[in-house]
Amino acid sequence: MTSSIHSLTALGSPEPPENARTGVWWGMSDHHVLVNRASWDEDAPNWVERGREAWAQEEPVWARGNPESELHLLPDVAGLDAVELGCGTAYVSAWLMRRGARVVSLDNSSNQLARFQAEFGLSFPLVHADAEHAPFADESFDFAISQYGAAIWCDPYRWIPEASRILRPGGRLVFEMGSPLVMLCYPTDDDDAPADSQLHRDYFGMHRFEWHRSDGTVEDIEFRLGHGDMIRLLLSSGFEIEDLIEIQAPLDGTDHPYIPLDWARRWPSAEAWKVPRDRARSVVASTLRGRCQFIYVEEGQETRRRSCTLGGGCSWFWELFP
Ligand SMILES: C[S@@+](CC[C@H](N)C(=O)[O-])C[C@H]1O[C@@H](n2cnc3c(N)ncnc32)[C@H](O)[C@@H]1O
Repeated sequence: MTSSIHSLTALGSPEPPENARTGVWWGMSDHHVLVNRASWDEDAPNWVERGREAWAQEEPVWARGNPESELHLLPDVAGLDAVELGCGTAYVSAWLMRRGARVVSLDNSSNQLARFQAEFGLSFPLVHADAEHAPFADESFDFAISQYGAAIWCDPYRWIPEASRILRPGGRLVFEMGSPLVMLCYPTDDDDAPADSQLHRDYFGMHRFEWHRSDGTVEDIEFRLGHGDMIRLLLSSGFEIEDLIEIQAPLDGTDHPYIPLDWARRWPSAEAWKVPRDRARSVVASTLRGRCQFIYVEEGQETRRRSCTLGGGCSWFWELFP
């Protein structure tokens, strides 16, 4: 089997468009993608063994060691067009393909891609691109998934609307990620310290988190929203919320350098969202007192109306209303 990587990145043009109100938004928004690409390219060798073990697993196993038979994150994917956003070594894609899906896997780091297809005799398209600008036509997929990929390394105000765009109405997004709670419990004075039982960070306003190397430079940039903000973003992006599973580590769960097993037994260190894409056919965007407003139209009739809570502060706003 051979595998090929399609390089479809849009990162070569960081210049703001002429009609953007300010280039700062564009520069900032692409900055984390470039920083994370360099970081994941460098770190890729450290994910090879873990990737091989996961590729070899017949049954999907999710964060902290919970098997699919316990968590039920996956629908019946047989015959579905599926995409994995931020796939790493793409073992989740392999699980989906073995369950009968037609899979496309996307990652921002070329070093993470294309390691195991030949070894495990599975072949599916690998796309080197940023999940915030997924190079797919509208309504290309029935199912999208991210396990600690786009779900934490992309700006949610960009990747979630993008996932909605590439899903067909009635399609479904599943994403698994670290919880907002554990993010609050990382000490602020040492980026390598594990989570403890104190709240070190503010819940309100949480969005972007930078992790640093020992010399103080930024190593990578992660994102997390509080649950209220996440729910509003999902609803305004055309998703319904089927379930939010707050994941407890099993008794024999795996220890983690940043989240001790004992912590993950007491509090949710990970969570998974199951969100079907609204069946409404089209979303019309407009502004109301400086806020993005989304009007859902089905067969010519307005079915729902939602507005974004961030007002002019979200990067989406600038793209829709430059
Ligand atoms: C922890 S891995 C997740 C993949 C896999 N589930 C795993 O645990 O190995 C994180 C992946 O997200 C990818 N990633 C980071 N930023 C991304 C972006 N903007 N678009 C797509 N992938 C991204 C990284 O390159 C990395 O391969």
